[in-house]
Amino acid sequence: MRTVDLIQRKRASEELSPEEIAFLVNGYTAGEIPDYQMSAFLMAVCFTGMTDREVSAMTESMMNSGGMIDLSGIPGVKVDKHSTGGVGDKTSLISAPIAAAAGVVVPMMSGRALGHTGGTLDKLESIPGFRTDLTPEQFHSQLAEHGLAFIGQTDEVAPADKKMYALRDVTGTVDSIPLIASSIMSKKLAEGMDALVLDVKVGAGAFMKRQVDARRLAALMVGIGRRLDKKVQALITDMNQPLGYAIGNALEVMEVSQTLHNEGPEDLRRLSVELASRMIFLGKVTKTLEEARELAEKKLSDGSAYKKFKQVVELQGGNSQALEKFELLPNATGMREVTTSRAGFVSGINAEDIGRASTLMGAGRDRKEDAVDPAVGVILEVKMGEKVDAGAVLCRLYYTQESTLDEAAEMVEDAFKISGQKPDERALILEVVS
Ligand code: URA
Repeated sequence: MRTVDLIQRKRASEELSPEEIAFLVNGYTAGEIPDYQMSAFLMAVCFTGMTDREVSAMTESMMNSGGMIDLSGIPGVKVDKHSTGGVGDKTSLISAPIAAAAGVVVPMMSGRALGHTGGTLDKLESIPGFRTDLTPEQFHSQLAEHGLAFIGQTDEVAPADKKMYALRDVTGTVDSIPLIASSIMSKKLAEGMDALVLDVKVGAGAFMKRQVDARRLAALMVGIGRRLDKKVQALITDMNQPLGYAIGNALEVMEVSQTLHNEGPEDLRRLSVELASRMIFLGKVTKTLEEARELAEKKLSDGSAYKKFKQVVELQGGNSQALEKFELLPNATGMREVTTSRAGFVSGINAEDIGRASTLMGAGRDRKEDAVDPAVGVILEVKMGEKVDAGAVLCRLYYTQESTLDEAAEMVEDAFKISGQKPDERALILEVVS
């Protein structure tokens, strides 16, 4: 088998066999297939897609690229949650502790920033000392004792996704339904979960711009789970404007802490509670979804979820004081306000532009080996539907380098639409696929 032949066949829209897909995934994981050939293959997939049989084969090869974590010795249903990628989307850091505080065992294997979207691992690592590189044994014992642990793909578990995810991030090969589905499902299956709640984002700030594509992605992942006897539920949720007000790693951790203290933005709270409720329900802690919602609300409002998050931050080496004293988090060195010259209603905030501006300032990567700047990002001052006067501040950019600031500010200015008419309210949770 020659890699170049497989690339050419994929480029010509031919279906590859499971053996051929395994050859590519295993060869790349072992370092025998170079980045440039894998990049060409991924780009061919972006253009020509994959059949469902190919996506299943890709998912299984990626899942089997390393060891599988066996959590069967831990009592209870193990339930994870994953988002397909959004801007300001920090719900994992809120819904996971709510569900764990309600008694669900939550193994969480997350990713880093991808394209213009943020990543749970990068957000967590902005807490000084926080480590996401737990060994499978540490992951297992933290889950058994405390019911919640956060890790990333490692060289031992889901190594194919670790390498391909980093490559896709910098080669423009992220927004492809088969690549997203196999990336998410391979690592979730390898981490040993029994059930999964997916947040499939749709809209300007999501990889899926159209609801029909989001629905297809959701159905594909639910189907992969079902074939392997896992319960998977997907919510399709709006990502036309950023979620909450904060975009950027440390800035988002601050908003997570505020939300866990019951002082966060309404949209972020609502979605996090709904995701946690479904985790609680799939975890069989309650008999009905309604009871799960009540329990999730209670665990958030009585401070149990915050206590759980703080405990996990400490267990993973993080300085939990930074969750209350924000000056202990990485801080930007400068701030620039973006204002409107027009009075009216905020009728659009293009989340992709805001995400790109934040990435440009350093919150995401240009090359695989780049480190992210945890301090930078954007804080919105307004959300869609709000009335603004001429001269009002729309958002603030937090930066550490002047070199990209003007370009980022221009992108952010273009992201806001101000019009004479109040826009119709948009639903946040659009559909459930299960
Ligand atoms: N999240 C993932 O884990 N992988 C993707 O490809 C997109 C979002």
